[in-house]
Amino acid sequence: MNVTAPALPVLVARGLVKRYGPVTALGGVDLTVRTGEAVAIMGASGSGKTTLLHCLAAIVAPDGGSVRLSTSAESPVELAGMSESDRSAVRRTRLGFVFQEHLLLPELTAVENAALPLLLTGAPRSQAEAHAAAWLATLGLAGLEQRRIGELSGGQAQRVAIARAQVTGAPVVFADEPTGALDSATSAEVLDALLHATVAQGRSLVVVTHDADVAARCHRVLHMHDGRIAAPHPAAAPEETTR
Ligand SMILES: Nc1ncnc2c1ncn2[C@@H]1O[C@H](COP(=O)(O)OP(=O)(O)OP(=O)(O)O)[C@@H](O)[C@H]1O
Ligand SMILES: [Mg+2]
Repeated sequence: MNVTAPALPVLVARGLVKRYGPVTALGGVDLTVRTGEAVAIMGASGSGKTTLLHCLAAIVAPDGGSVRLSTSAESPVELAGMSESDRSAVRRTRLGFVFQEHLLLPELTAVENAALPLLLTGAPRSQAEAHAAAWLATLGLAGLEQRRIGELSGGQAQRVAIARAQVTGAPVVFADEPTGALDSATSAEVLDALLHATVAQGRSLVVVTHDADVAARCHRVLHMHDGRIAAPHPAAAPEETTR
């Protein structure tokens, strides 16, 4: 009999709480993301999806609970309770981000934007840009390296943002509605690019989406409701719906 060992957890959140004044944006969230897994987070507007993503990605400090990042290359770290400067170092080197508004710098070219995280870690420019150009090519953007962001379509710009999230080799990539502003055909292409860049390389993806087609292509879908992950089914594990 062939028994495959379950993939190791790379990100484990327990009892995450985040309040904004009187608003409890996260009311105690437990979540485990395994190596090579794509997890979709869905839920109504205001249910806490972005807040959860930001706490998992060390962008925002939670008020309570823990987030443990364990990657094979480095010793595990606890993100909750870290100082802003330590969180920022973890973000730069071990995590990747793709946001809906893609936060690309319009005055820079596609390859300069994609190379940015490497330049921030001190990599030489030529090396950083060569690596970024390789990712752009992988994502179908060969020949567009020198275009400025405003000279690209929405889907192309979003693929630049995906390339940028991959260049450091981050083991976990977060995406907040990466296809939200795109038509359905472009959205499918961008999702292909995102899955190819992450899960297909044995990395993990946590994606917030309103798009059922995006969620359907992930390994698991979590539904948020009022700052908590809704229990999907009495027989399933409390945090998850297994596809
Ligand atoms: N910086 C902030 N200051 C105050 N309240 C906030 C802040 N960020 C989020 N909130 C509140 O926390 C709750 C959760 O917000 P969040 O952005 O996580 O929702 P969301 O599920 O991502 O919604 P959407 O689908 O609209 O993006 C909301 O009630 C929101 O108003
Ligand atoms: Mg949001």
